[in-house]
Amino acid sequence: MAAKWTPDSWTTHEARQLPTYPDAAALGAATAELGSYPPLVFAGEARDLKAELATVAEGKAFLLQGGDCAESFAEFHPNNIRDTFRVILQMAVVLTYASKLPTVKVGRMAGQFAKPRSADTEEQGGVTLPSYRGDIINDIAFAPEGRVPDPQRMIRAYSQAAATQNLLRAFAQGGYANLHQVHRWTHDFMGRSPWAKKYAETADRISDALEFMAACGISPDTVPQLKATQFYTSHEALLLPYEQALTREDSLTGDWYDTSAHFLWIGDRTRFDGSAHVEYLRGIGNPIGMKCGPSLEPDALLRLLDTLNPAREPGRMTLITRYGYDKIESGLPRLIRAVQREGHPVVWSCDPMHGNVVKANNGYKTRPFDRILAEVRGFFAVHRAEGSFAGGIHAEMTGQNVTECTGGAVAVTEQSLADRYHTHCDPRLNASQSLELAFLLAEMLNQEVKERRKAAA
Ligand code: TRP
Ligand code: MN
Repeated sequence: MAAKWTPDSWTTHEARQLPTYPDAAALGAATAELGSYPPLVFAGEARDLKAELATVAEGKAFLLQGGDCAESFAEFHPNNIRDTFRVILQMAVVLTYASKLPTVKVGRMAGQFAKPRSADTEEQGGVTLPSYRGDIINDIAFAPEGRVPDPQRMIRAYSQAAATQNLLRAFAQGGYANLHQVHRWTHDFMGRSPWAKKYAETADRISDALEFMAACGISPDTVPQLKATQFYTSHEALLLPYEQALTREDSLTGDWYDTSAHFLWIGDRTRFDGSAHVEYLRGIGNPIGMKCGPSLEPDALLRLLDTLNPAREPGRMTLITRYGYDKIESGLPRLIRAVQREGHPVVWSCDPMHGNVVKANNGYKTRPFDRILAEVRGFFAVHRAEGSFAGGIHAEMTGQNVTECTGGAVAVTEQSLADRYHTHCDPRLNASQSLELAFLLAEMLNQEVKERRKAAA
């Protein structure tokens, strides 16, 4: 069926959402340079993540994936990386405790730069310019020079991704991810906020468990697993010239890997039949994700799964559903039934962000926290009804105290959106909204895991 795959075989397929670089020679020079740079991740790590995701597909672990909608050159700062990493770990502790399952931690970090857009051009005051497509492609400022796609931005994005990846590795392995410390941050953070009362009981129970273990001699000093964690990176594989330049043949297995991140996903707008993005992703050995929205028909999903995972390898495919709080219960069951009927092993993950964008009265693009939660609830309810495992969450979030999504226990109001609205693209959950989401998820996950254990007994 499929012709031979090569790292550039995508170029003979229909590519949507790619920029048009005006200077082909400059593009060639930039990708040739990238092609000579070191990989950002090692193929063996991508295989480890695939194995961890295979346990999620079986219902024996939970996937937590989160980070910025879009990373930017302007917000590149060690504190931002640190704070997002820390909140993801804080969420992971809560989820691990509630589910009694390992949490697989994946950042939308160290490469999440390119954005799909609904229109190729943007008009302001009678002037039409190319749309902003992310810092790896052009400049967000509405000015003619900066909106021209510049291939040198790929080099800058690579070096930012390399520095980010390096810091994440240092944090994950160097002592910053100490389980006791991570939970202490949660405790201290909650101590200062009025919303914390609701969740204090869970937080206290986690403290008790850690103290009990320490009294038994199990502490970060004695057990290295409590001092470090595995933290993986991911982004949307959108800018194919960049991904191709970082595609390398693994010397151990002879297989091809996209070494720009451990995990790559394909967006809702680029996952059609005959797509260049599908063609590229089918040939790499990394675990991959696919965003599934209301327009995806079960037949099309099955065709895509056959193309992307013909060997039906567990852990290879994560389906990230993004319906909207009011559409998930009618839309998702058809996809689950089709996948179950064909016996495809997939991880089901919930993106409760992208189907729930609204415009506030003052013009800000926002996401009401209640709707995000409602979609997560719907996700768990549908999977319970269909007998499948609700295995993951995919969130746009930051460790910063931004005001981009409305609601949450410390309510961000429509009026306060203007206070700290910093995103380069979609609105993100702030640190307390993220943690609150984890506590609420924990209740649902705890329930799910208990029911599955009872059913299995
Ligand atoms: N290594 C274990 C894990 O990653 C335990 C752990 C250490 C942990 N630090 C953590 C868990 C921080 C969550 C968050 O699961
Ligand atoms: Mn987004």
